[in-house]
Amino acid sequence: MPSSIVIGTQWGDEGKGKIIDILASQAEVVVRSQGGNNAGHTVVNNGVTYKLHLIPSGILYPDTLCLIGAGVVLDPKNFIEELEMLKERNISTKNLKIDPRAHVVMPWHIELDGLSEEFRGNSDIGTTKRGIGPTYMDKYERCGIRMYDLIHPEVFKEKAMATGKLKNKIITEVYGGEAFDLDAVISEYTEYGKILAPFVDDVSVLTYQAHKEGKTIMFEGAQATLLDIDFGTYPFVTSSHPVSGGVCVGSGVGPKMIDRIIGVAKAYTTRVGKGPFPTELNDEIGEKIRNIGGEFGTTTGRPRRTGWFDAVILRHSVRVNGLDGIALNKLDTLSGLGDLKVCVAYKKADGTVINHFPAALEELDGCEPVYETVKGFDEDISGCRTFDELPQACKDYIKRVEELCECPVAMIGVGPDRAQIIIRD
Ligand code: GDP
Ligand code: IMO
Ligand code: MG
Repeated sequence: MPSSIVIGTQWGDEGKGKIIDILASQAEVVVRSQGGNNAGHTVVNNGVTYKLHLIPSGILYPDTLCLIGAGVVLDPKNFIEELEMLKERNISTKNLKIDPRAHVVMPWHIELDGLSEEFRGNSDIGTTKRGIGPTYMDKYERCGIRMYDLIHPEVFKEKAMATGKLKNKIITEVYGGEAFDLDAVISEYTEYGKILAPFVDDVSVLTYQAHKEGKTIMFEGAQATLLDIDFGTYPFVTSSHPVSGGVCVGSGVGPKMIDRIIGVAKAYTTRVGKGPFPTELNDEIGEKIRNIGGEFGTTTGRPRRTGWFDAVILRHSVRVNGLDGIALNKLDTLSGLGDLKVCVAYKKADGTVINHFPAALEELDGCEPVYETVKGFDEDISGCRTFDELPQACKDYIKRVEELCECPVAMIGVGPDRAQIIIRD
């Protein structure tokens, strides 16, 4: 398929990086459209682990063009660290480009992320504290600094001084924090601009050219549907649009260019950060899933909350993203857990059963998951490479997921490595 979107269907960390890396073997272009270094995408190739935050997961293929679109917020410091990490491992970054429209995460954004979380106290969102929300706030307030500005020192100095003065006022007078030395920040970031300048190019133009040449393009989602600013569990969400619709806006392409949309899911559910989680398991099974699945954040190292597979969430994702197929990862983690539960609907406090994910947290709060029990399995499936090799209980689990979500399971992850995948179509 020439152009495919790969997005997260739950609360992130579904293994998007792994799926992109696998599909990128056939792609000529991989594009990131939103989010920033709040993302942590893991790629494991032959036992070597790469953790990517900003750089698209196609980077391990030397000839793949890797693009960071206008909708991304880019922390130059983090980006340079990632470049260095790849350089140390002899991974070429010569085919990496950043759109001049992408907004720059400045140090005051990171500071304000931390200060506002602290101010919220027990009502904090549990952000990654990477400055993502405050950078998008400036973008929409129309006072942000873009990549174009960063690589033009005179423009950058003027804009950074103007916005920096206001940020210092907010930091000191609203939060009682410490002001930034603006001259020092400007000279530090001007140096970053010099390093980044060769990477800046128009991603919308590059993507369109590739499309016209009939090249295969993968759009790599970051975060996930339930972290979407509109279709997620607001306010416990991120500040961008991780849903498939966000891809077109964030990379500057039209919807007609997209041929296929794949939603990545885990065979169970996890969430890092605060907010509702109907199928959460605060018990031994939840702990077991966390330990077997290595459920600790790629970006912050925080333990991920764990729970049963929730088909209500997946149906929501199938609908809002227009999914053609699901990549179901981490099926191997469910081995040895005994019988498995799948949430098929929610029961509201008044006894009504709903099949869709509610719009408001107040409505979700009173909901109890309605479970169906399915047979578990004990076999080690990490070596399976075809659907037929899977134990019957696994096949039944997948079939039930497909029925409940009204979407085919196109890929099945049975381990973290690139090779540990079953591709059905
Ligand atoms: P992303 O943010 O969606 O790219 O996912 P992360 O990389 O943050 O988290 C997914 C984790 O699961 C990583 O540690 C992956 O190496 C791992 N992983 C991905 N797919 C599988 C799978 O099928 N089985 C197992 N056991 N681990 C997997
Ligand atoms: P990937 O791409 C999981 C969560 C944070 C927090 C909320 C808001 O690896 O799947 P933010 O820093 O974005 O303002 O935090 O969103 N969050 C993620 N959770 N995976 C991610 O990315 C996430 N990116 C943000 O934990 O709950
Ligand atoms: Mg992640």
